[in-house]
Parts: sequence; structure tokens; C-alpha cells
Amino acid sequence: MQSDSATASAWTGLIDGFGRKIDYLRVSLTDRCNFRCVYCMGEDVTFLPKNDVLSLDEMDRLVSVFVGLGVRRLRLTGGEPLARKNVMGLVHGLSRHLQSGAVDEITLTTNGSLLSRYAGDLMAAGVRRVNVSLDTLNPATFRAITRRGAIADVLGGIHSALAAGLKVKINAVAMRGVNEHDLEALMLFAHGLGMDLTLIETMPIGAIDGDRSDLYLPLSEVRARLGDHFTLDDIADRMAGPSRYVRVRETGGRLGFVTPITHGFCAACNRVRLTCTGQLALCLGQDMFVDLKAPLRASEGDDLLRRAIGDAIVCKPMGHNFVLEHLSHPTVVHSMSVTGG
Ligand code: 5AD
Ligand code: SF4
Repeated sequence: MQSDSATASAWTGLIDGFGRKIDYLRVSLTDRCNFRCVYCMGEDVTFLPKNDVLSLDEMDRLVSVFVGLGVRRLRLTGGEPLARKNVMGLVHGLSRHLQSGAVDEITLTTNGSLLSRYAGDLMAAGVRRVNVSLDTLNPATFRAITRRGAIADVLGGIHSALAAGLKVKINAVAMRGVNEHDLEALMLFAHGLGMDLTLIETMPIGAIDGDRSDLYLPLSEVRARLGDHFTLDDIADRMAGPSRYVRVRETGGRLGFVTPITHGFCAACNRVRLTCTGQLALCLGQDMFVDLKAPLRASEGDDLLRRAIGDAIVCKPMGHNFVLEHLSHPTVVHSMSVTGG
């Protein structure tokens, strides 16, 4: 659960310059991905040189320093996190923080393609929730969006995850003229299996081959269309993170909307992101990175790192300022596969 306001007096962990408690860390294990989603990266994307990427031991150490500074929730992302070699070694290592009670949860955001292989191991390591990105149930559209994915792998992954006892949430980027007419079926699929579905507006993050404004579909439109067939009841309490949720009366399932373009969601932001090269990204919507690799490697003790993290957190910006025009000319050059979703 999201911790409440920064005014909670007992909190001794990280607090940013706006008084927000930072207790949630997303960690990108790799910028590499076996998919090339059209809204995320270009077909001929150049990945970071492998030598720049932190070893899993370094990641463990870095994350553990954050845990020591009060971070209570960890989410592993990518690129595709399950494409990182020996990913389970890291997850098992980090699970000691679950056992000690220092961390409330370790979750994962994945494209699902390798999930069948890992679902059981993730559950055994203490992971209880995974987010799977799936934008359509139509195999041809799926292939067109991911440029190389096979939907059967992802569906298999989802079923394996559910069978292993993991709670699964589906994330879908809503795109004009691509999957806008598939979203109702996707919702029925998700809710039929007891999964939440979160819809996301295309964000101007990183260069892609086309122009994102062609893809942009305001979720207000999707919501209105779904509202023609379903009763969407607002869920009053705001859950952790940037989603606004409704309960769909006919399915009983939850539907979330992430609307960075049409509505800002930054005021309650409680998170920072770590790239796979050890850069701390202070905001998804701004190219503000603080290097933690140098302090990590400069000494065996963690004092330098702790200081660097504390200094960085104070500089966390109030929020992003995505505007529609940025869709054609992203001001954030690092794609989500680098910064972590
Ligand atoms: N805009 C919106 N969503 C994106 N994702 C990746 N890149 C973008 C973007 N530019 C999504 C992925 C995944 C989640 C982590 O973010 O599809 O579901
Ligand atoms: Fe890979 Fe996710 Fe980017 Fe798609 S959105 S290319 S699955 S990192």
C-alpha cells in the first residue's frame, strides 16, 4: 500500500524537497527487450553497452542501501526484466528483505513472454504480484504492436502466473487506430480471470520510429465509449500510484486509467527509478538522472552511496510537464525501456 502523506511523523526515511515520502523504488534490470513495442522504441534501437550495466551483485547492494534508507516496495522492470540472465538469483537475494520485514513487497513488470518459465520461481521467492503488458488479444495486432512478439507466449505466461498463485494486473497502452476497438475485449478477458486492467495514455518518452501523436488516444474517450456498454463506478479511495480506478458493475472487475497527458498525477508521487546502469531517475517525465554507479564503485562501504542518494532525493522535481506537443517531439530522450516503466 502507498504510505500516507509525508507528514507521518514516525518516518525516518527518504523525503524529497516537497515533503513527499519516497518509499518505492523501481529497478530496471536491463534496457534490453525481446519486443520492440511501437510506442516504446524504434525497430533498430541501440541498447546500452553491456559493460555499462551493473552486475546483479551491484544491483543487490544498491537496492539494499535504498531499503536501509526506508524503501518498502520494490518493483523490478526493464526492458524485459526476465530477459536478464540469472534474474532469479537477484530476486532470491532481495527476498531476504521480505523475510526480515524490511520490505513489504517485491513486484515485477513484464511483457509476459518468459513468464511461464519463471512464474513458479517468482512465487517461491516471495513475489505475489506481477504486471503484464498486453495491449490487445488480437494476434495480428499484437504482432504489429510488439513487432516480434507471439501472443500465445504471453497468454501462456499469464495463465502460468495465475496458476502459480500470483496476482496479475494487465497494463495496456491505448492507441488510436491500433487497439482502440480491442480494449473492451481485453477488459472482459482480464476481469474474467480476476485481473485488474489498467489503461495507459501514450507518453512522450524516448524516440520511436513514427510520430506518437498519431497514436495518442485520450482515455476520456475510451472511458466514454466503455461507459456506453458498462456501468463504471468510481472507486473513491485513491490507490497507490498514478492510476484512477473504477469498478465495472457488470464484470465486478477493476479498471484503472493512467492519464499523464490529460491529468497530472505527480502530487502524491512516492517513487524513484534506478536504471540498469545505476542512474537514479528522479521522475519518469524528466531527464533528471543522478549517477550512483560512481559512488557505488568508489568504496566498499555504503556511506558515499547513502549521501549521494539523500542529496539526489532532495532534488526530485515536483512533476512532469508532458503536453500534447511533446508527443511529436519528446523532451525525454530516454525511453521507458531505459528508465523503467
Ligand atoms: N507511453 C506509455 N506507456 C508506455 N509503456 C512503455 N512505453 C510507453 C510510453 N511511451 C508501457 C508498457 C508497460 C508499461 C511499463 O509502460 O507497455 O505496460
Ligand atoms: Fe519491451 Fe515493454 Fe518496451 Fe514493449 S514496452 S518494447 S515489452 S520494454
